[in-house]
Amino acid sequence: MTTTSFSGLQFAMSRSCIPSSQKIADAGAVVLGGKSKIGSWNKLASACHIASVQPFGRGFTSSSIKSVKSVTKAMTESSAQSAVSGLPINLKGKRAFIAGVADDNGYGWAIAKSLAAAGAEILVGTWVPALNIFESSLRRGKFDESRVLPDGSLMEITKVYPLDAVFDNLDDVPEDIKANKRYAGSSKWTVQEVAESVKEDFGSIDILVHSLANGPEVTKPLLETSRKGYLAAISASSYSYVSLLKHFLPILNPGGSSISLTYIASERIIPGYGGGMSSAKAALESDTRVLAFEAGRKRKIRVNTISAGPLRSRAAKAIGFIDMMIDYSSANAPLQKELSAEEVGNTAAFLASPLASAITGTVLYVDNGLNAMGVGVDSPIFKDLDIPKDQH
Ligand SMILES: NC(=O)c1ccc[n+]([C@@H]2O[C@H](COP(=O)([O-])OP(=O)(O)OC[C@H]3O[C@@H](n4cnc5c(N)ncnc54)[C@H](O)[C@@H]3O)[C@@H](O)[C@H]2O)c1
Repeated sequence: MTTTSFSGLQFAMSRSCIPSSQKIADAGAVVLGGKSKIGSWNKLASACHIASVQPFGRGFTSSSIKSVKSVTKAMTESSAQSAVSGLPINLKGKRAFIAGVADDNGYGWAIAKSLAAAGAEILVGTWVPALNIFESSLRRGKFDESRVLPDGSLMEITKVYPLDAVFDNLDDVPEDIKANKRYAGSSKWTVQEVAESVKEDFGSIDILVHSLANGPEVTKPLLETSRKGYLAAISASSYSYVSLLKHFLPILNPGGSSISLTYIASERIIPGYGGGMSSAKAALESDTRVLAFEAGRKRKIRVNTISAGPLRSRAAKAIGFIDMMIDYSSANAPLQKELSAEEVGNTAAFLASPLASAITGTVLYVDNGLNAMGVGVDSPIFKDLDIPKDQH
């Protein structure tokens, strides 16, 4: 995955693993318009560590916290700060739990990076069967290049929690799963148990992200989908969000934000996105509205979903037609460019920030505008229309 710059946005940064001289230069809200400092990441990597391999660790020392605080104060008073213009996205002091991160190719990872770039502390929930490989890849530095934030520091993940979002508590877990060797090495991975563990470890969170989906029969047309496959898609991709929010709501600080990921197949026909997945996304979007009301009234939590365009993630590749969808979007969307995961990550950072304080219950499209089209303009039928096209 490339590490593109976050032009036009400002993020407050306080990465703990950057050398102090660089910290002085980079701390505080800065405009990120230039290139990421990719070249320096490997030097920095040796000065950093991944807190996820230290259970309950915060990944930084109290002395580094002190230095960040004083630098931030100094920056507030400096001329560099007054030179900054625009609106800051500052999530410093906020803690995010992102469910559905198991590699560096998906939306969950990109959202974690944007939230981290804005200063938030990152906790992730990783599907139990994918946990070992994810943790060992993190430990071995396989994701280090993808961990580079716009200030050149590396994203830290404070803790990785094993999670299987189709089970609410231990009573739900069938014997064959309990006995499965991919699950045997982990514990406390049902939704309720994960929420309890996060409460025990950190007390509360401010941002909850649901970036997971699973439809075992996704490649089958709806007419050929079994009841079991359909319900499994709904369970993993829709109810999992209801359950996550339900269990995390008591530890979500008032004013907090909850975000999920949806897809246009919920409301328009996308042949190939089968197995009940289109129905699962429709349920997710409807639930977003109802949950916005309930969580808003109960704990002043905002609930939104991002309808993202096509991305070559692991899950999307499993569906089998992702390249076609990316090409289709390039040919037909108002903006003829490939969508980057960072664009979705940045939108999540905005939604999680006070800048979005009046936005709740919405489906927000981040898809180069494809959702707005009524026709596919690459059809030969339109060949005589003078439609401007990107020549690249
Ligand atoms: N990639 C796209 O083109 C696209 C487009 C629109 C929306 N989305 C949505 O974005 C979200 C993230 O998907 P992605 O495409 O980035 O792929 P991804 O593979 O990065 O993420 C899906 C994650 O779900 C996890 N998962 C599956 N079942 C689980 C379970 N029972 N419990 C816990 N975790 C589980 C997987 O391990 C994986 O980490 C999904 O909701 C997806 O539908 C993706």
